[in-house]
Parts: sequence; C-alpha cells; structure tokens
Amino acid sequence: MTYVFKSPGRINLIGEHTDYNGGYVLPAAIDKYTYLTFEESDHFDVYTKDLNKSVEFSIDERKEKDTWANYVKGAIFHLTKYVKKTIKPFKIEINSTLPIGAGLSSSASLMVGIIYGISKIERLNLDRERIAEIAHEAENEFVGVSCGIMDQYAVALAKKDSFILIDAADGHYEYVSAIGFPKITIVDSGVKHELTSGGYNMRRNECARAIEITGKQFKEMTNSLIDSKRKALGENSYKRAKHVIEENQRVLDMITAIENKDWEKVGWLVKKSHESLKNLFEISTDEIDFLVDRINALEDVYGARMIGGGFGGSIIVISKSDIKMQLKEINDAYKRQFGIEMKSYPVKLSSGVRKINLF
Ligand code: GLA
Repeated sequence: MTYVFKSPGRINLIGEHTDYNGGYVLPAAIDKYTYLTFEESDHFDVYTKDLNKSVEFSIDERKEKDTWANYVKGAIFHLTKYVKKTIKPFKIEINSTLPIGAGLSSSASLMVGIIYGISKIERLNLDRERIAEIAHEAENEFVGVSCGIMDQYAVALAKKDSFILIDAADGHYEYVSAIGFPKITIVDSGVKHELTSGGYNMRRNECARAIEITGKQFKEMTNSLIDSKRKALGENSYKRAKHVIEENQRVLDMITAIENKDWEKVGWLVKKSHESLKNLFEISTDEIDFLVDRINALEDVYGARMIGGGFGGSIIVISKSDIKMQLKEINDAYKRQFGIEMKSYPVKLSSGVRKINLF
C-alpha cells in the first residue's frame, strides 16, 4: 500500500520570538507543501527528491551524518517514545514545493508530516495537538533546536483562510478569519537562515534572563518594570525583553485591526514589528532590511517585515494589489547591491497537514 500526505509550511503575521516566551503568535499555514509518500518496507529508508539523497536507518537515539535525515529519524524516534511501541518500517519519499531554509518552517512541516502520516497509517489515535507536541519535542531534543511551539501548531492545526491565535503559555488557540484580508506575498531573500546556528538560542537565553531578573513572566512584565531594572538586566536582555513585551501587545492589537478590517493599521503593526526585530531583537540582516525598506516604500503596500527565526529567510508583504512588477525592479537593485536574487510568490492560507486520497 502507498499512502501520501501533504504538510504545509507556515507564515507568521505577527508575534515573533514570543512563543518560547509564553506569549502570543498569529501564524497561518500556506499553500506550499512537503509531500510525503509512505510504503511499507522491511527497513526505514528515506529519500529526499530535493537533495537527491537517501538514507537508511533504524530507530534509535543515534544521530545520522546527514542532518536532514535527523528530522525524519528524530520525529519517528520521539513518536515511538510517546506511544511506547515499535513502529513498523517504511520507505518514505519526500518531495517539496516549500523552500528549505527560507524561514517558512520546512522542518516543522516535515516532522509534523512524518508523525501525522505514521499515526494515520498505524491508527495511533493521536490528536493534532499531541502530534504538534511530539514534533516539537523531537526538534528540541533530537535535532537540538530550542524552538517554540508556533511552527508545529500552525502546521498541525491550521484552517483554510484563517490565522491561528495561539497563546504559547498554555497552548490555547483560536481561529481568526482572514476572509477579505489583503494580498499576502512572501519574498524569500535567498539568505539561508539556520536555526541550528547559535543566534536563536542566544536570544532565548537573553529573554530567560529577563524573567529571572524581574521575577515576572512576559505577559505580566511592563516597560516601566524593565526600565527600573535596566542596569541589572544589561543592555541585551533589556532590549530583547522590550521587544517581547511590545510584540505581545501588537498581536492583540492586530486581532482588533483584522476584526475592524483596518488594513492600514494591520500594515502599521507589521512595520512596527520589523523595526523592533531589527533594532531591539537585532536579528535582521542588511539584505532583509534593504528589501523591507524598499517594499514598504511601495504605494500599494500596507506593510512588510521579516518572519521567523531571523538572520535571513523570508519577508511577509501585505498589499492592496499584485506587486509583482514592482518586486521585479526591487530584485534588480537587490542583485546589484548584494549579488544574490530574491524570489517572490503570492500565498493563500491553507489548512493543516492532511492525507491525499490517491483514488
Ligand atoms: C522559529 C521557531 C519558532 C519561533 C520563531 C520566531 O520559527 O521555530 O518557534 O520562535 O522562530 O518567532
């Protein structure tokens, strides 16, 4: 028997670097996917079409040499641990329309897809929240990235034409309708972002320090509190905390702006988020800022900002009309300045991981 599943990538409208700080996020799944084909086999054998590589492994704690294979092995290892039984082996093929390393959660898409696929085939009876949590644990413990819960929740739980407001403090979530929402375009800067390289974990530690020094969780922290502790916090933790406090508020303001269909306000909040990620969280890059500044100067654009972990990756653009031509001009200037090209594509908000019926 052959089984096929498709698992989406995600964007995040607002709420960046708030998830691992017990705050709010507002992601959505997009119509770019990791496709996974499972065939029963006598051993685990995973092939990725994008890299044209395959790896055979058994399910144990040992890491594979090929980093990409650890996302698959780690997902299955942690699923096995959770259900406390051996999973029968599969030949798995990975095909993708979702760019890797572009800040669109190709890793969560893959890991949630693997766990969801196996749990359906094996009738493991796991709900989508649990699947997200197993994938999250696997990425933290097996792959070694201390990411928050946003990506896995978005990939597992997303609904068509909706954003999901997630309170990462307790996993509570609700859907926010995006019917009538302006156009969303993703601009991939072409600068690969790698969560496994230190900057992300360093930010996490700087944020944890703010909780330790103030004795408050972020939702109870205020700007006046961190102002009064600025010296003890040190400049880095102070700036990171200020970003998280204000970004949490921006998520709540965004919900009101969407409900009011106030697209100017939506764009304004997106721009403010970028300024904060650049100046307070310090995770943008010259390439990303070059693009964001030029895109934000376009007449039909409500707002653009970097999304995801930072240090490269993609930009989300909210606009009144199609801006393909204008983006082409920006790309020419970008190429002249940095010698690399950006890619852009409009996206639609899609539903979470699902099975494809072959017949
Ligand atoms: C990455 C992580 C998420 C989140 C974002 C930043 O995408 O995987 O958990 O922390 O960065 O908002």
